[in-house]
Amino acid sequence: MTQRIAILGAGPSGLAQLRAFESARRAGATVPEIVCYEKQSDLGGMWNYTWRTGLDAYGEPVHGSMYRYLWSNGPKECLEFADYSFEEHFGRPIPSYPPREVLRDYIMGRIEKWRLREQIRFNTAVQWVEYSEETGRFSVTVRDVKKDVLSTEEFDHVVVATGHFSTPNTPYFEGLEHFPGRVLHAHDFRDACEFAGKDLLLVGSSYSAEDIGTQCHKYGAKSVTFSYRSAPMGYDWPESFEERPLLLRVEGNTAHFKDGTSREVDAIILCTGYQHHFPFLPDELTLRTRNRLYPPDLYKGVFWIDNPKLVYLGMQDQYYTFNMFDAQAWYARDVILGRLALPSTEEMRADSEAWVAREEACATADEEIDFQAAYTRDLVGPTDYPEFDIEGMAALFKQWKQHKKESILGYRDRSYRSTMTGTLAPPHHTPWMEALDDSMEAFLAEPEPARKSA
Ligand SMILES: Cc1cc2nc3c(=O)[nH]c(=O)nc-3n(C[C@H](O)[C@H](O)[C@H](O)COP(=O)(O)OP(=O)(O)OC[C@H]3O[C@@H](n4cnc5c(N)ncnc54)[C@H](O)[C@@H]3O)c2cc1C
Ligand SMILES: NC(=O)c1ccc[n+]([C@@H]2O[C@H](COP(=O)([O-])OP(=O)(O)OC[C@H]3O[C@@H](n4cnc5c(N)ncnc54)[C@H](OP(=O)(O)O)[C@@H]3O)[C@@H](O)[C@H]2O)c1
Repeated sequence: MTQRIAILGAGPSGLAQLRAFESARRAGATVPEIVCYEKQSDLGGMWNYTWRTGLDAYGEPVHGSMYRYLWSNGPKECLEFADYSFEEHFGRPIPSYPPREVLRDYIMGRIEKWRLREQIRFNTAVQWVEYSEETGRFSVTVRDVKKDVLSTEEFDHVVVATGHFSTPNTPYFEGLEHFPGRVLHAHDFRDACEFAGKDLLLVGSSYSAEDIGTQCHKYGAKSVTFSYRSAPMGYDWPESFEERPLLLRVEGNTAHFKDGTSREVDAIILCTGYQHHFPFLPDELTLRTRNRLYPPDLYKGVFWIDNPKLVYLGMQDQYYTFNMFDAQAWYARDVILGRLALPSTEEMRADSEAWVAREEACATADEEIDFQAAYTRDLVGPTDYPEFDIEGMAALFKQWKQHKKESILGYRDRSYRSTMTGTLAPPHHTPWMEALDDSMEAFLAEPEPARKSA
């Protein structure tokens, strides 16, 4: 009987799994039957922007946490696919920090090139997954959201690629219920223009706080106050920014902080991260973790040790993204195809624990980058995923960190060399702070002088 694989989610991780099997098929392998379930009406996962918040048109939680005017917060050279370069997709080199729409176009390009779309069942939300010890198979129950009809199918393997930056972690602060302005989580943030002229309080000190804060500044916020729990971000912020310790309570418009200081604010955005949330999985199959580089209980960061027929992709906190998902997907594919063997449960657990301990020993961002490079290298080694300069990419990540320190509003004006093609990215025609139009058309437009001379 042909093996059947269910891939849950058609974001970059699920698409990596589709591409991995297709690559084997084109090289002559017999591959299992694959069904990819996606609750949205199109592919791209987080990169498939939606204006909606709350529930979608069919009552499912809106997946998207991305917002208008979002630009990549890392160099595109660090997420490039090893089998499909940016230059191949766009037909020419493009700048290092593309806006959202451009990255989505790139993701879509690889799927169109290898015609993978037909393997995806759109508008299909996974409701429940169950494993039967008797049959050794999974039953996956899904809802066709348009018809509102449930159906169940059997699979030999399930690949969970539903992302983990969608279900907000929303702490409570005393007095929020009486705050007279807007209170929202970053997941529901869509348009910085809404906050023009306002004094903003952003709780959190990681990527969302930093990016939403700088974006609101770019689109006219009067001031941005960050409130941190563990440590301030410490960038050389412009005058209208400040960092304060944790918010304690809110009284009217006044926010009170742990150091006894207070200030008036018009809106509060909770940039307090996300939960790994798998409402379609029973307890014994559910990954429980905070956002970290090596979630426990997974062998090679992907196989559920208690039942390695269940695979999780992309559940790590991420420096590396698209190419790391590829590395995971190629490895998972080769185990499913029987090309790579899994060791005993005890050996898997010991291996996973060693990686967790290694992660916990990381003291600096550079060490974390090297950790994720080593992890990705470990996956790529035994598969036929095209060799790429993982360590060279780690060096780019370290430069990126340094460039952010030098200028938090200007780092996106930098250019990096692709480790795939060797090409140095051209500078963007407009400094990021002045680039208010984030459309693909505007981003890819030739600079003024070049247009005139053409
Ligand atoms: C605001 C924000 C900005 C980011 N910016 C960057 C960036 O600049 N660069 C970068 O490299 N990364 C960035 N990321 C990280 C981003 O999450 C990854 O790039 C990537 O999208 C992760 O891919 P994924 O496939 O694992 O998850 P996702 O992209 O989240 O895709 C998961 C998919 O699963 C589907 N799904 C979920 N539940 C179900 C269900 N029950 N049934 C069926 N389908 C389901 C979803 O609809 C979605 O399509 C950003 C993340 C956020 C939140
Ligand atoms: N432009 C872009 O590309 C862009 C923009 C936004 C986000 N992203 C991506 O989105 C992903 C998620 O980033 P994120 O910043 O949302 O999540 P995150 O990196 O997990 O950070 C969560 C933040 O919330 C804080 N926090 C959690 N609970 C808290 C509490 N109870 N009280 C106060 N603070 C609390 C954490 O503080 P501690 O440090 O104390 O734990 C941390 O600062 C990342 O991969 C990022 O790259 C990208």
